Amino acid sequence: MSLELVDVSVQFHRSGRTPVPAVVGVSLHVDPSCILGLVGESGSGKSSLGRAAVGVYRPSHGQVLFNGEPVRHLGALARPRNQIGLQMVFQNPFESLNPRRRIGSQILDGMTRSGMSRKARLKRMTESLEQLGLPARAAGRYPHQFSGGQRQRIAIARALAVAPSIMVLDEPLASLDASAQAQLANTLRVLADDQHVGMLLISHDLAIVRHVADQLAVMYLATIVESGPTADVWSLPLHPYTEALIGAIPTADGKGQLPIALTGEVGDPAAPPSGCRFHPRCPYAREKCVRETPPLLDIAPGRKVACWLHRPGRTLRPPAEQDPGDLGAPISLPHGQDVLAHTGGLTTT
Ligand SMILES: Nc1ncnc2c1ncn2[C@@H]1O[C@H](COP(=O)(O)OP(=O)(O)OP(=O)(O)O)[C@@H](O)[C@H]1O
Ligand code: SF4
Ligand SMILES: [Mg+2]
Repeated sequence: MSLELVDVSVQFHRSGRTPVPAVVGVSLHVDPSCILGLVGESGSGKSSLGRAAVGVYRPSHGQVLFNGEPVRHLGALARPRNQIGLQMVFQNPFESLNPRRRIGSQILDGMTRSGMSRKARLKRMTESLEQLGLPARAAGRYPHQFSGGQRQRIAIARALAVAPSIMVLDEPLASLDASAQAQLANTLRVLADDQHVGMLLISHDLAIVRHVADQLAVMYLATIVESGPTADVWSLPLHPYTEALIGAIPTADGKGQLPIALTGEVGDPAAPPSGCRFHPRCPYAREKCVRETPPLLDIAPGRKVACWLHRPGRTLRPPAEQDPGDLGAPISLPHGQDVLAHTGGLTTT
């Protein structure tokens, strides 16, 4: 009961303009009970990838498999019965809940094709609300009668009601206050551990995701640049972008976790930089980085990285400690970054 993405690309066509390759060649898999955190800045392609993973977008290349079967492009169609165990909670649950219908009816709708009797569906609806910490009486109310955090939980309860084996959750923790975030993160962990639900957890907030995800995949400008077990990536980020994301997370004293600054913007996927897409922002960039695209390589058991500084067989070291070898001369950065400048914050604009 796993979800597998094999070399998936998603391209948006715009009349009279260059197409936007929002996702390029991404391979990932999500197993039951496992939470895979997909992190990256705004515009990196996380939602596009999540939507392709559940059949909302048709990949322009590659394949998405659920339980070994190709995931059908949904269009206006309902999800086929053999794929009902694959569910998505969209980035904005306020848009996906119908304001004029009671919560209970909306949860029951999702179960229509589950094959369950009405009595079983009612029981399951109550259970899923309760699993998300909502009272059974919530079923009789309308979306506007709930807070933002509660509506997020309702959207998850609706997906959970069909007893999915895999859920794709797009920014479920965004726009919640810190305590609601922590509570919901705990709930997701319990669902993974106790009900063996596998999750692709999309978030721009690595600080929260690292507490709940077993595995991390870091996305930059449509591609995955690093992946591996969360604890390993957190303790030794290999890609300079991952290092910068972690460096930007403030510690209790207000400084960053690592002495790394990141300036500039993600960029336009329709006109990505040559070579390594991260090179215009990378403090370690060298001549080869501008010319050649680093492939995503297995660098150690369970760990992949796309950066010329790391090669299979080399000792794992932070980017600053890797020998650049034959990568050529350093290139100057447009933003005048100083690798050793401790900024204590991520500048993305
Ligand atoms: N329907 C669309 N048509 C054209 N371009 C699109 C479309 N949807 C997304 N894009 C573009 O694709 C890129 C990736 O967008 P996407 O929404 O997947 O990123 P994201 O990582 O989810 O960002 P955020 O964190 O802001 O939600 C962006 O450049 C975006 O402008
Ligand atoms: S390949 Fe070069 S530019 Fe890209 S992340 Fe590695 S060092 Fe930086
Ligand atoms: Mg998004």
